[in-house]
Amino acid sequence: MIITLTLNAAVDKAYHISGVVEPGTVMRVDTCRNTAGGKGLNVARVIKLCGEDVMPSGLAGGRTGALLEQLTYQDGLNGRFVHVDAETRCCINILDGKNRSTEFLEPGEEVTAQEMERFMQEFEKICTDAEVVTMSGSVPRGVRKDIYRILVERVKSWGKKVILDTSGELLKEGIEAAPDMIKPNQEELSMLLGRPVTTLDDVKAAAMELYNKGIGHVVVSLGRDGALLVCDQGILHGIPPRIKAVNTVGCGDSMVGAFAVAFRRGYGPKESLKYAVAVSAANALSDQTGHFEPEELERIYPGVRIQDLTVSETLSD
Ligand SMILES: Nc1ncnc2c1ncn2[C@@H]1O[C@H](COP(=O)(O)OP(=O)(O)OP(=O)(O)O)[C@@H](O)[C@H]1O
Ligand SMILES: [Mg+2]
Repeated sequence: MIITLTLNAAVDKAYHISGVVEPGTVMRVDTCRNTAGGKGLNVARVIKLCGEDVMPSGLAGGRTGALLEQLTYQDGLNGRFVHVDAETRCCINILDGKNRSTEFLEPGEEVTAQEMERFMQEFEKICTDAEVVTMSGSVPRGVRKDIYRILVERVKSWGKKVILDTSGELLKEGIEAAPDMIKPNQEELSMLLGRPVTTLDDVKAAAMELYNKGIGHVVVSLGRDGALLVCDQGILHGIPPRIKAVNTVGCGDSMVGAFAVAFRRGYGPKESLKYAVAVSAANALSDQTGHFEPEELERIYPGVRIQDLTVSETLSD
């Protein structure tokens, strides 16, 4: 079983309008689609599509929280959310006739320290049957910035593998607890280390630095250029075949989901990276976030190349 944690879940509302957004006027929406949102929900959908048991978890509150749980259930996912007073957020994405997307992200209400204490207790029960736990995204207001450090430490002490995918201060604090895997993109990596990470050599050096801090798998996602993995068996670059991407939102979440599946199945590093690069590329071919067509995955997988970039003396274990 894999648990995906989304502390700042949301109901994502996709508004389709045929014209263009005109500020200061009344706009009529043609169609509206609600989805259970937040990065960990994307991760969970991908894990399910990969064929593994998954349980999404997080915080849910108010009527939007109830809708979030219902949408999760409609996705065929058996979620276990901890209830808080703060109403769950809505995030609105307006897709106009010119194929442009304009997003409005609600700030969300504050969650109290007492509620987080209760969450911590319930989360231990939620994780009972898990071998792998993923933690994704931002946190609601009121939640301490070192929450992922505390959570990673706890989950590791329960003998489970942890993948952390977040950014900024939350990532900086979280890596202090040495999660089994992190998956920053170049921008997140650059913010974390406080220097530009532009070339493949920069990425390699940055990933090595984090690996040497005790993070077993450092995966840096590079968009259409694939991903770099540094682990105890070396430095690998996974390169996807050229594809016609239609929606790259949630590609990083798909990669996290695929690695969680690979950990669960005991894949080696090369196989894990190849699988994750293929799954995330397949997500880019779907217009839905955190979704892929299994036939696309089968088509892409054989075209993923794995290059070994290891220079033995650069690895210290
Ligand atoms: N255009 C593309 N073609 C092929 N594969 C892609 C493409 N875009 C993304 N991917 C795959 O998805 C992975 C993750 O993408 P990306 O680096 O954009 O993550 P991200 O910025 O964390 O995304 P998000 O947080 O929105 O989910 C990449 O490492 C790559 O394997
Ligand atoms: Mg990301």
